[in-house]
Amino acid sequence: MTANKKFPKLGTKVWWNGEMIPAESATLHVSAHSLHYGLGVFEGIRAYKQKDGGLGIFRGFDHMRRFVDSCRISGLPTPYSTEELLEACKSTVRESGFEACYLRPIGFLDAGPLGVAFDANTHPFTIAILSMDWGKYLGADAANQGAKIKISSFTRHHPNIAMTKAKLTGNYINSVMAKVEAKQMGFDEGILLDPEGYVAEGSGENLFVVKRGKVITPSVESVLEGITRDTVIQILSDMGVSYQERRMSRDELYAADEVFFSGTAAEITPIAEIDFRKIGDGRPGKLTQEISKRFFSIVTGENSERKAWIDRV
Ligand SMILES: Cc1ncc(COP(=O)(O)O)c(C=O)c1O
Repeated sequence: MTANKKFPKLGTKVWWNGEMIPAESATLHVSAHSLHYGLGVFEGIRAYKQKDGGLGIFRGFDHMRRFVDSCRISGLPTPYSTEELLEACKSTVRESGFEACYLRPIGFLDAGPLGVAFDANTHPFTIAILSMDWGKYLGADAANQGAKIKISSFTRHHPNIAMTKAKLTGNYINSVMAKVEAKQMGFDEGILLDPEGYVAEGSGENLFVVKRGKVITPSVESVLEGITRDTVIQILSDMGVSYQERRMSRDELYAADEVFFSGTAAEITPIAEIDFRKIGDGRPGKLTQEISKRFFSIVTGENSERKAWIDRV
């Protein structure tokens, strides 16, 4: 096979249906069903260097449980349990050669006859886990000074068009459109509204609004139930800050004191500006900064009360 010079730098080995194989060999056939029709499941997970040494996967069990749920929702037949998949993630981190990394478990239907219908006998379901070195998802400037955001011209999925509780590869066409549109217009990210015009989420992040000391996040109907979103909710309850999950209109974003994104890739990213309107004073807000501080103390194992969320490698 011709080497593609544009391959990203992956960890040394990829977990592939139970075996650790060299990253260069982890390729698929051009007739793979998932490539043609977009039915695949995936996760995004981070492994962090721990304060007391070693590496820990943040909420690895919860991510792989969502992966198994995505398989159930989409009808893709995973032969592995959540526990086995978590062990597979640990092996991938161990053999990655990285000090900290991003993990991408993906399940897809491999080579088989063309045609929309699939069948486990004709299209083998393959699970692979790769690792990558991945810094600040929206860039260092956005992480430090706040991101510049546009409300997208694309609408987030209706749950009966693309099932939003599953992290399905094909669902991300919508995210790719929103992200590319935002970047082409000079923004860092897009926020998508749901089919009824209420705020849903970023192309790859959940979002939170702070208004007069209270925190609001869109309810789960049309968003991915983010594991970082849940982590932020736990942090808020540790801090005794009241929060609400409810529908939210775009003007509430414009008039917010603070807005921030949460996500495995984006971690906690403050938002400085939406549609050319400054959020608060246009700098990362106090509560956002406190939540971010607590988030990093949890993921690096410094917070002893949340050690159960760290899957040591
Ligand atoms: C559309 C979307 N929403 C939200 C999130 C945040 O989810 P999590 O915190 O589990 O990474 C992601 C990232 O996976 C995403 O792709």
